[in-house]
Amino acid sequence: MTGIDDLPIRDELRGQSPYGAPQLDVPVRLNTNENPYPLPEPLVARIAERVAEAARELNRYPDRDAVELRTELARYLTRTTGHEVGTANVWAANGSNEVLQQLLQAFGGPGRTAIGFEPSYSMHALIARGTGTGWIPGPRHEDFRIDVAAAKAVIAERRPHVVFVCSPNNPTGTAVDADTVLALYEAAQEARPSLVIVDEAYGEFSHRPSLLPLIDGRPNLVVSRTMSKAFGAAGLRLGYLAAHPAVVDAVQLVRLPYHLSAVTQATALAALEHTDTLLGYVEQLKTERDRLVAELRAMGCEVTESDANFVQFGRFDGPGGAHAVWQALLERGVLVRDNGVPGRLRVTAGTPAENDAFLDAMRAVLKENNR
Ligand SMILES: Cc1ncc(COP(=O)(O)O)c(C=O)c1O
Repeated sequence: MTGIDDLPIRDELRGQSPYGAPQLDVPVRLNTNENPYPLPEPLVARIAERVAEAARELNRYPDRDAVELRTELARYLTRTTGHEVGTANVWAANGSNEVLQQLLQAFGGPGRTAIGFEPSYSMHALIARGTGTGWIPGPRHEDFRIDVAAAKAVIAERRPHVVFVCSPNNPTGTAVDADTVLALYEAAQEARPSLVIVDEAYGEFSHRPSLLPLIDGRPNLVVSRTMSKAFGAAGLRLGYLAAHPAVVDAVQLVRLPYHLSAVTQATALAALEHTDTLLGYVEQLKTERDRLVAELRAMGCEVTESDANFVQFGRFDGPGGAHAVWQALLERGVLVRDNGVPGRLRVTAGTPAENDAFLDAMRAVLKENNR
């Protein structure tokens, strides 16, 4: 039977598997950092209204530059970060994954490299691979903070064209302070002028302020955001970036024309009208996240400090390691994530009832393992 490797596919894709967290039909799904709260009914009704309006013009291509949406996203960023951002600073695409892909298409590519500090969001390396960009795995401290001295040394030695900083970091939950970003930015500019991408997909869940103000006077710094997490709209596929207007011009060289459908633009605009309600859910999730941290610690787990809507916990160094615990939780109807970080798993903060189910399952698994 013909398989991928029998096709004249690019050499670097041979033997690889596609990204994918298991999409299993279990009662409690806490594995992909989604927001557990469905969109509120008034917003669902508003989406229907705005989409109906857009539908009347679906014979036409959408606004290629998504100006209204970018303007509203800029307003949202200005309001929530206190930093003045304009339409020209903002770009939007189908999920922040597409934003990151467009950035690598424009600033990475064959003969170029990107660095990320692992463990981190695995798509950074996969998007690098997909765009033919070489990948450099960068170092972290044992406690998952970025090891700034070691990072600066690797940047000086390898001179990457793109530097990824994920804050709060997935899967560890660790937020990065502004001084660290500035140190990496300066090291990256010294090595060669390279693009520093701060991935703030979970920014709204952090105790720390956004790193967005750092784009001021730093044209090679980009902050990437998404409506998948805080806005509870993972199914919408809407990500965006804030940067110097020149970066926005650069991604337009590689974006497909009309990449953002009229339906997507209309839906995102409706969601932005309901920002306050949606950010209310974020507050609830932060409380639940902190409860997960406290309860897991009370069970004797080692828990990484989290600024996101998920928690990394362990250590499971017994037989079967973290994967055995993952399996035992799954058998109790709870799906968490095994990111391959040795001895650790990641759980997304769900509704209070989902979190209770997870915590009960964890207590049972730990009890069973001790027996
Ligand atoms: C750190 C990080 N960045 C980006 C994304 C991509 O999100 P989306 O493409 O849904 O905007 C995710 C999704 O899990 C993520 O964890």
